[in-house]
Amino acid sequence: MALRNIVKTGDPILTKVCRPVEKFDNKLAILLDDMYETMVKANGVGLAGPQVGLLRRLCVIDVGDENGRLELINPVITEMNGSEEDVEGCLSFPGDFGLVERPQKVKVSAQNRTGETFEIEGEGLLARALCHEIDHLDGILFVTKVTRMLDPSELETNEAEVEE
Ligand code: CO
Repeated sequence: MALRNIVKTGDPILTKVCRPVEKFDNKLAILLDDMYETMVKANGVGLAGPQVGLLRRLCVIDVGDENGRLELINPVITEMNGSEEDVEGCLSFPGDFGLVERPQKVKVSAQNRTGETFEIEGEGLLARALCHEIDHLDGILFVTKVTRMLDPSELETNEAEVEE
């Protein structure tokens, strides 16, 4: 495994729409392993293709719950319910946090690294991470959705410093 560079704000790749993944080969497996390692090393809970410079519809997520390490290829939100405003950050915007309204619960359909389709349901932080990462695949950044950016003094808990 190897660490990849995380693309930071200002790079135009972050606002482009990604293409679907079509090849489920060893190169994809290596990429997913690298992305997971990169995300963990950066203390993030999610990382999407464009954040490592690839305009492909894939992301990795690990919010530290019982779902563990998630890999989503060509993910699509199929259901959303409720809404919740909470603190959100992004590995491409180091140190920036803001309040974003997201669905409280989502259902997502995606493929795994071998191309099989699966469904996952997420609530709270996992729902937020799923929405945040899938937004990345359409070039949508959390800063365009914040209701209010937070001052560093407003961040008290570890939970508030979640970057995706
Ligand atoms: Co992000």
